[in-house]
Amino acid sequence: AAPTRHEAESSPAVCAGTIDSNWSGFSGSGFCNGTNNTSGYVQFTVTAPAAGTATLGVRFANGTTTARPATLAVNGSTAQTVSFEGTGAWDAWTTKTLTVNVNAGSNTVRLTPTTSTGLANVDYLEF
Ligand code: GCU
Repeated sequence: AAPTRHEAESSPAVCAGTIDSNWSGFSGSGFCNGTNNTSGYVQFTVTAPAAGTATLGVRFANGTTTARPATLAVNGSTAQTVSFEGTGAWDAWTTKTLTVNVNAGSNTVRLTPTTSTGLANVDYLEF
């Protein structure tokens, strides 16, 4: 099935930061600009038809030249660390494709920055 797009600015997504729209090219009405510290997470809630391996896409922009790594936690358990590299500009959006294990039904997917620079700007998660 085609993936469902979950906008970072739309509930039930949670953005520990601000919803901004000052960089063009985002989907929906804005993107999550997490706070520039390790508390600046973004969380999505997705629904899986079945338990097992699933693919998700995270659209982000990082206008710095330094990666903004984050842990990816599914239902509160850290699954992997993801490197959100510089994309060249804050209005240059890239989608990172990741593989995760999910439960059947509702799952939370949270990205939590591991460095004090915080997260890249996050536009949406597709699942
Ligand atoms: C700039 C940019 C923001 C970005 C921030 C950051 O302020 O305008 O969109 O989130 O840098 O470094 O996180």
